[in-house]
Amino acid sequence: MFATASVSPTQTALPKDLFGAIEQLKKDLNAVVLAHYYQEPDIQDIADYIGDSLGLSQRAADTEADVIVFAGVHFMAETAKILNPDKLVLLPDLDAGCSLADSCAPDEFARFKAAHPDHLVISYINCTANIKAMSDIICTSSNAVKLVNQLPAEQKIIFAPDRNLGRYVMEQTGREMVLWQGSCIVHETFSEKKILQLKMEHPDAEIVAHPECEQTVLRHASYIGSTTALLNYVQRSENERFIVATEPGIIHQMEKQVPQKHFIPAPPEANCACNECPYMRLNTLEKLYLAMKNKTPEVTIPEAIQSDALAPIQRMLEMSAR
Ligand code: 13P
Ligand code: SF4
Repeated sequence: MFATASVSPTQTALPKDLFGAIEQLKKDLNAVVLAHYYQEPDIQDIADYIGDSLGLSQRAADTEADVIVFAGVHFMAETAKILNPDKLVLLPDLDAGCSLADSCAPDEFARFKAAHPDHLVISYINCTANIKAMSDIICTSSNAVKLVNQLPAEQKIIFAPDRNLGRYVMEQTGREMVLWQGSCIVHETFSEKKILQLKMEHPDAEIVAHPECEQTVLRHASYIGSTTALLNYVQRSENERFIVATEPGIIHQMEKQVPQKHFIPAPPEANCACNECPYMRLNTLEKLYLAMKNKTPEVTIPEAIQSDALAPIQRMLEMSAR
């Protein structure tokens, strides 16, 4: 007698050729797979579109697919659902949250807003639908400076929830803003000391960073931008080597687009893999397949906040196109 290992029903249900099965499900469901650069390489490779938060929102707003499979985190899938209330929006793992979104509870934010009654609220897209519904304009890391620059100089502004992006936007625009004190656990993990050590080992390397990083890291960067902006920069830069201070999932695309160049992930303070976003990494190719096959888990938005959350996203899309 041979002992048999216990196998879960989901394991037995997985086809051998997951890539082929997902491609077939895309056709059967008329589905589009949208993925953020922080997803694991296999997910990036099966996606119909890979982008930063702005690109993903624009694509979600334009899609003619019946089903949107969002390979990213919850606030991104929620944004796609707000833009497409009648479509099925699937998220491979509903627990794929975000520390920034978690840092801004609706009741606390309502009190914060009430304490600054004459302020316009600009919220980073990394927030829940509830916070979006309490905002005037949504922004992403790629358009925050552009959007703030479009507002009259005398307009008072609350910026939430990322204090690091908020401070960076203040520096770039010369505007004072009231900042909500949220942060990203991934981008705050980078160690200035270890980045400088790396720079000494590779003096020819350029440091590129996401604006969610702290100022101690940003001040050493020769280029700061959203994930798409970083990807574009490493392509056009004459440099051959880069220290990349953002979630290392982006390096998969960097290596695909400029294979002759070298990319070194910025190290975290501790000896851990905490420069990888634990939320983004909850999604796997297997979960993506199962979500499509079973048409669940689905992202839903309470009706009461749908239209209030839509207006500031639409304002962002309009202002971004100017
Ligand atoms: P972008 O997609 O705007 O580059 O932001 C990165 C991020 O942290 C998303 O959660
Ligand atoms: Fe949120 Fe940071 Fe993860 Fe982006 S990297 S999803 S901001 S926790």
